[in-house]
Parts: sequence; C-alpha cells; structure tokens
Amino acid sequence: KIPVILDVDTGVDDAVAIMYALTCEELDILGISTVAGNQTLDKTTRNTLAVLEYLGRPEVPVARGAAGPFCRPLHTAPQVHGENGLGNVQLPEPVKQPEAGDALTCLRRWIEGSAQPVTIIAVGPLTNIALLLKAYPHLKARIERIAIMGGGAFRGNASPAAEFNIYVDPEAARMVFKAGIPMIMCGLDVTMKAYATGEDIDAFAALGTKAGKFCADIFRFYYDFHMSGVRGKLPGCAVHDAVTVMALTHPELMQGQDAYVEVDIDGEHTWGCTASDFRERNCSGEKNARVILDIDREAFIQQLLKAAASFS
Ligand code: BDR
Ligand code: CA
Repeated sequence: KIPVILDVDTGVDDAVAIMYALTCEELDILGISTVAGNQTLDKTTRNTLAVLEYLGRPEVPVARGAAGPFCRPLHTAPQVHGENGLGNVQLPEPVKQPEAGDALTCLRRWIEGSAQPVTIIAVGPLTNIALLLKAYPHLKARIERIAIMGGGAFRGNASPAAEFNIYVDPEAARMVFKAGIPMIMCGLDVTMKAYATGEDIDAFAALGTKAGKFCADIFRFYYDFHMSGVRGKLPGCAVHDAVTVMALTHPELMQGQDAYVEVDIDGEHTWGCTASDFRERNCSGEKNARVILDIDREAFIQQLLKAAASFS
C-alpha cells in the first residue's frame, strides 16, 4: 500500500476525491489536513469531517491547517462551490472534532510514524505543505513525492495565467516546487478533460447508494457554475481533485511529460502561473515535475462510479 496524506480545501471536487480515496485498496490514508481555499478554514474543516462521517469513515484523522495564505488576503470560491463549500448541500453536523494540536505537528507525526516514505496528495492551496517543509526540512527525506491538483502548463482559471490553488497562495506553491521532492502536477491541462456530464451525474444518482446520491447532489450547483459559461463553454463539470488521487492508483489512464516548473509570484499578468519548461535542450532548470496532460475520461468516470457504488 502507498502511505498517503491528503491535504484538502473541501470543496465539491475535494469531497469526490476523498470519497474515491477511501475506496482505494492501493492507499493507506494516514490522515487528512485541511486548508482555506474553496471556502474558509472553518468550512473546509467542517466539510471534511462531515464527509468522512457521512461516508462512515470517522476514524480517519483530520488536522486543521492554515486559515489563509502566507502573505496575501484569502480568496475563496463561493460562486463555484456554494456558500457552504459543498454546493449548498447540508450534511449532518459532524460529531468528531479535528485532532488536538496544530496541523504541522499532526503532519509531522503521521510522516515520522510511517514505516515507508509518504506520498502527499495536495488538492488545495499549498500553504500547509510549504509551512511543513519550512518548519521541518528533515521530513523531505521521508516524503516520496507530492501529487497536486494545481497549476496548468497551458492555461489558468482564476486568471488567464493562474489556476485557483496556485493563485490563492503562489508563494507557498513556489516553495513546494523548489523543495527538491518529485512532484506530480495534475493541473488544468488534464483536469479540464476529466469532466462529468449531466448524464454522468444522473448515473451517480441512479446508483442508489449513499455516496452516489451525495456526489450527484453536490455536483448540481457545481455543474450549473460550469455550464454558466463564466469560464468558457464546457461539456461538463471538471472533477479536478479526483484526478490527482487517480494519478497514483491508475497512472495507466493518464499521460504526462516531465518538466521544469517554476511558479511566478510577481508578474503583472502572470503571477500564480506554473511556467512549465518541457524542452529537452536548453531547459531552464532541472525537471522537477511530471506534468499530467491527458486522461481517459470515460474510464475515470467509471472508476468514480465504481467507488460511489461501494458505499451502502
Ligand atoms: C481547484 O480549485 C478548487 O476550486 C478545486 O477544488 C480544485 O482543487 C481547481 O482550480
Ligand atoms: Ca480543492
């Protein structure tokens, strides 16, 4: 099994990624840390706990992380994920509280307690991960790789050049890309191809399971946002964060290329951009990331449906 830590800003697609990860026999989930992004930290933490309880997995430890980026005001995305962050679907109030102590202490404990080096799956702004690497640089040797939903070699969404997770905390992202740990970057290049159509959403509902109904319900608001055309014409809603989990469990469904990725933090029009150099000759730095560019969309959705079918 791959020991993993999930770092999330739960969020509609984060919730689907958590649901999927919980069903993966290939993964040993050591814990989940939360960060502000799609919504405030209070809401993303509550949502994470609520999703785990709703899906019958309250034993998975949750650590409450950073309430905002390093040195910028927090941007949230209620227009995408709803005021509550879960497409305004109300789950029962979670009974369990986050772990005692701060997230960095929890993350350190989970990483040091693992017999094997840990893979971090980070699908929100990279604030927690940057803080962790800054506070405990010795942990770098215990981190096998960091797989992120973030960035885009060829496009942005929060701005023309920047994807939301990087846009929220570009300084943190820059530190993480420079940490010397192998990265898997599942950015908009691939995640915009990993969309769920209206028919797919109906298929989740038709499963008749708790998770199927939940996914269909939270997708509705999110789907309407994608269909509104604010970010261009799309055939469905992008299930971004689940791609990052599946990049570990089903790499055969994806294609990518190695690149040297730098995060721009101060370009007038390009701050938050993940400048990706794929060149073999004259590459501007050492390749630090596998950039995922393509996915078998139908197989991706089938895997998510299979996962949602397995919760009674
Ligand atoms: C990313 O930003 C958030 O809205 C999603 O949860 C995803 O992690 C997509 O840009
Ligand atoms: Ca997210």
